[in-house]
Amino acid sequence: MKRLPCWSGWRKDNPVYSVQTRIFTLDPQNPDPAVIVQAAERLHADGLVAFPTETVYGLGANAFSAVAVGRIFEVKKRPFYDPVIVHLSDISQIEQVARDIPSLAYELAQAYWPGPLTLVLKKGPQVAPNVSAGLDTVAVRMPNHRIPLALVETSGLPVAAPSANLFTRPSPTSARHVLEDLNGHVDIILDGGDCPIGLESTILDLTASPPTVLRHGGLDLDLLRERIPHLQIARRYVQTDEGLPMSAPGMLAKHYSPKAPLLLFTAQTDAALTRLRDLASALAGRGFKVGVMTTMEDARHFSDLNLEIADLGSAADLPQIGRRLFAQMRRLDSLRVDVILVRAPAQEGLGLTIWDRLFRAAEGKVFDLDKPLEAEEIISLLVKKEE
Ligand code: TXA
Ligand code: MG
Repeated sequence: MKRLPCWSGWRKDNPVYSVQTRIFTLDPQNPDPAVIVQAAERLHADGLVAFPTETVYGLGANAFSAVAVGRIFEVKKRPFYDPVIVHLSDISQIEQVARDIPSLAYELAQAYWPGPLTLVLKKGPQVAPNVSAGLDTVAVRMPNHRIPLALVETSGLPVAAPSANLFTRPSPTSARHVLEDLNGHVDIILDGGDCPIGLESTILDLTASPPTVLRHGGLDLDLLRERIPHLQIARRYVQTDEGLPMSAPGMLAKHYSPKAPLLLFTAQTDAALTRLRDLASALAGRGFKVGVMTTMEDARHFSDLNLEIADLGSAADLPQIGRRLFAQMRRLDSLRVDVILVRAPAQEGLGLTIWDRLFRAAEGKVFDLDKPLEAEEIISLLVKKEE
């Protein structure tokens, strides 16, 4: 893979871009054009504007300006080798940011844009090199949300925007989350309420042959399989060599994480759930403040224990679980729990994306509750982490 020069990124000693953050509340269906104009002006002045999308909140900058994009990396403390997605408001804009665009890109864009599908294409020359972290590709998508669409359209700029959280923290699904992580480091936060999907977009690499899914997300894989019979799924958890662009960037094992260690459990039977209950009880007995992220149906197993319960809603309503997932991780963090226990969902449909985010938050720590569990083993794991 060809590397281009890449100048800007977060360095520990750099002064971080600091400003007075202004928040504007907008109607997500019909945003006030006067506010959008102000935000567009900030983008033209190399400022940072956070906005809702249908997936998560984005931290936007002019994709043509390496200075503006450098600020994204600075304020997020994002490693420079992790590239950023460019947001468009119209399919024809692809040509401003990409080159040698395959017809499949247009076909998919027609079918699923605006929506939670990001396409990786060959990068056009105008896009700032740090958007792509020095790769010769660029990731693009058209969000299904009036606010970013209006912002891109009004500014006339493609907008580079990763999720508007500090690197490794759970993605923000409300303006409050953005403020928590980036107050004083983003010019404007456009508050359009909670994000309707709450999980990031599906990323599809069209420069790979066959086309390859790099990240599970809000768009169901079966929809892609209908159009791409040989669709490939990338090896999901790639170790990174510090400083090198990865073949599948952003696939760090530790990602989307709450501060407390999160432990993921697979469980098929009621006996397995009883084991999870017993473990929660044993941990609480050892003085741990225990958080349990659970569906409404499983919650009864824990109701008599002294725990922090984070309600994900009904197991039958995966979209609701998706919407609540990151917000509940943040809530448990704010309650300062010592550990978070979660039962993994089935890896089907949107469940696959939810599973993926939990797996990363758990840094790969998955325990099978259908086998007897050594509570002491888990306790010693946590004690070691605390030391
Ligand atoms: O739903 C979303 O995609 C949200 C909203 C704000 O649009 N954005 C988002 O961005 O999740 P971020 O930065 O958190 O994740 C961007 C990921 C990178 O970590 C990387 O995995 C992938 O997109 N990516 C970006 N450019 C790429 C490229 N040129 N090649 C491969 N992967 C790329
Ligand atoms: Mg992110």
